[in-house]
Parts: sequence; structure tokens; C-alpha cells
Amino acid sequence: MRVLVVGSGGREHALIWKLSQSPEVSQIFCAPGNGGIETIAEIVDIGAEDVEALAEFVDIGAEDVEALAEFAESRDIDLTVVGPEAALAKGIVDLFEKRGLRIFGPTKAAARLESSKAFAKNIMKKHHIPTAQFSVFDDPQAARAYVRQLGVPIVIKADGLCGGKGTIVAHTLSEALGAIDLLMEDRIFKQAGERVIIEERLVGEEVSVIVVTDGVTALPLLAAQDHKRLLDQDRGPNTGGMGAYAPAPCMSAELAPLVMEQVILPTIHAMANEGWPLKGVLYAGLMLTSDGPKVLEYNVRFGDPELQAILPLMKSDLVPILDDATEGRLSNVSCEWRAGSCACVVLAAGGYPGDYAIGKEIQGTERLADQKDAFLFHAGTKRDRGRLVSWGGRVLNVVGVGADLEAALKRAYNAISEIHFDGMIYRKDIGFRALKGPVAKA
Ligand code: AMP
Ligand code: GLY
Repeated sequence: MRVLVVGSGGREHALIWKLSQSPEVSQIFCAPGNGGIETIAEIVDIGAEDVEALAEFVDIGAEDVEALAEFAESRDIDLTVVGPEAALAKGIVDLFEKRGLRIFGPTKAAARLESSKAFAKNIMKKHHIPTAQFSVFDDPQAARAYVRQLGVPIVIKADGLCGGKGTIVAHTLSEALGAIDLLMEDRIFKQAGERVIIEERLVGEEVSVIVVTDGVTALPLLAAQDHKRLLDQDRGPNTGGMGAYAPAPCMSAELAPLVMEQVILPTIHAMANEGWPLKGVLYAGLMLTSDGPKVLEYNVRFGDPELQAILPLMKSDLVPILDDATEGRLSNVSCEWRAGSCACVVLAAGGYPGDYAIGKEIQGTERLADQKDAFLFHAGTKRDRGRLVSWGGRVLNVVGVGADLEAALKRAYNAISEIHFDGMIYRKDIGFRALKGPVAKA
């Protein structure tokens, strides 16, 4: 089987790493890839040499959906797997399906669960899926009046895609009014902030529940916990995600079936009943409140960095899972997991999620080559005349696997001590909610 993976982040690197272990896969292409995918043999653990022979780098942007379809057709790709949301929101799945090409992911209409928060909130409201109380605004004056009336704390969200940075949890009135200005008047996220959702602030622990779905049934992956804030102890601005671990103990054996019953299956059935069956991934970002689990957001693709902490624990072959979901026969499939825990710590460029420098030489990655159960998934990296350099805000994902979360985190943080680039920042407290204390030295 020839597989094309679309994207260039740590999630896509993890996907390729896992797909390359499948006996069904003969060749993997990645568009546009990154500095790690390009020389994927850097990844330790299984079959690095085989991986190098398998993977090929394609210079097509992840949102250039027409060119991707041309490529898939001309190279006889059997299955395309899409990492990032932008290509899905642009209709890559519709285009591929029209051309008779197999692709894992939702149609453009179904992808609105992620690409429009107003659409998602309205689906939840109509189908009684638990979520925060909300109102939708197109007019900044009305939004300001609503905020003044409700008071703080309050949450302001851009309707459209903002790379995980379009939500502001405001604790003061001036913060809330400032957020409305930034999104609706200054248009810092362009059209994505033309419309805003204003919602009640929820309190509790967050968890990412990610399932693969064929539009009818759902196959859950291990529950994971992301760390969206930039700084330790969940301070600072929201980011795309600064680290993750799996399994998340807050998703207890009692809670897991409840989430399936109250959130995941009702969402899948709601989309099917509305005429937009959801195939691919359903990712529910949940707040575990004292009132039960409530949906903060939906995504229709794998979480990043959650997937980097989930796939190293997956024992089963991923290919039949993606394949059967695409073909609508997921009920035949199950998934086995390794015991233990996995932790992923993101190394970012100083300044992220705001402005940051690129082109900084990254040193020490080769020292991880002989470490067992600690390895790297690249994100914003590039090979430049033989050197590995930073090329994005989130640069590297350092992953550790261990018998428990503490052991997994120790492996990841030990590995980080080998790596350096100018301005490198990372959180020292990944997993703190589960451990009740940091593993890394501040
Ligand atoms: P979202 O863009 O909706 O995923 O939100 C990003 C982050 O903002 C979430 O992971 C939460 O940490 C926080 N957040 C979003 N909605 C709420 C809410 N209603 N109450 C409290 N925090 C929220
Ligand atoms: N880790 C958050 C996301 O993938 O949206």
C-alpha cells in the first residue's frame, strides 16, 4: 500500500513513524514534511533503516489541495491521511473522493464542527450535548454590551480557525473588551474573528478524547491531556499545545463510557442525522466539571501534541483502523495498547505563540539516537545545508515512554537536556495534574 500523509508537524511525523511499522505499507510520501520526516531515520526505536527506505518527501503545501490530488492520482496512492485542519476545511476530502481517491478524513461540510465554533455550538445545543452556555455575535457593539451585562470571568472565541489561538479566557472586563477589539475590530485573525462566540467560563480538568469514526461507530484512542498554556502552572497565553501525556488518569473507567454515551456517540449521530456524516477523527476537548463532562471544542483531526503521546503506546497496526474507518466498517476493528505511559514535551522558539525567530541551529538531536524509549518527533524544523535548524514556533517534540507517567516524563526531560537551540523554551511541569508536582527541575 502506498500512503500519502499531508502536513508538516509533530503529529504527522508521529503518524509516519507509526504507519511505517505496518506490514501493509510499502511506501510513504509526506507533503510538505519537515526536517525530521525528511531524514526519518533519526527516530530511534523500531526499524529506523526501513523507515528511511519507505518515506519520501514531497514539496507540496498542505493546503494546496488540487496539487495534492494530482500527486495522489499520478503516484497511485492507496490511502491519504490528512493531519491539519486547514486542508479539511478547504474540502480536500470532497476533492479526493470526487476523483475516486481514498482519503481518511471528513468532508468540508462535516469539518465545520471544527472550522466554525458557532456551527459546533449550535449542533451541541440542538442535540443536547453538554457544553457551556453561549451566544454568537457578528456585531462588536452587541458583543461588548453582552460582556458588560454578564460580567467576568467570561470566554471570548473567534468563530473560525486560528491555530488554537483564537480563544481568550478573560478575567477582567478590560481583557474581555480588549479581546473583542482584537478579534472583531483589529481582525488579528482576519475573517476567522468576524464572528465571535461568548460563553460562560467552565472550571475543571481538561482532557482530550479522540476517536476514529466511520460515521456510525467510534474507536476510542487513549485519553490524553494537553497543556495549552505557554507557561508552567497553566499561566500565560494559549498555544497550539506545549506538551501532552497519555493515558490521562482523569478519564477514569467510570467516566469513559459516560463520555462515549453523552458526547461522542451523540455527536456522531447528530452529524449523520443532519446529513453530514463525520468520517475520520472526532476529537472532543472536554472540561470535567462538577456538573459532568462538557465540550469546550471539537476538532476533526488528530490532536497535536496529543497524538505524539498516544501512538507510541498503540500496539495494533494503525493502517487497518484508518482503512476500515474510510470504508465504513470500523465495527470490525479493535485496538490494543501497551501498558505504561507516554509523555511529550514541546520545545518551542522564544516568543511563540507571538513573533519568534527561525533558522536557529539545533544541536544534540543525534545524541538521542541510542536512547531507548526516548525519541523525537520534529515539528518546525528544516535541513539547511546539512544543518538542522528551527523553522517554526513549535520546533521539536521530545517523547518518553515508561512504566508510569513519572518514568515517561523523566525520559523525556533527560532527553531534552541533550538538545539546544538559541531561544529554546519549554514547560517544566508537563503532567503536573496527574503527578501533583513537576518532574523537571525549574
Ligand atoms: P478552544 O479554542 O475552544 O479549544 O479553547 C482553548 C482553551 O481555552 C481550552 O483548552 C480551555 O483551556 C480554554 N477554554 C475554552 N473554552 C472555555 C470555557 N468555556 N471555560 C473555560 N476555559 C475555556
Ligand atoms: N492540542 C490541541 C489541538 O490539537 O487542537
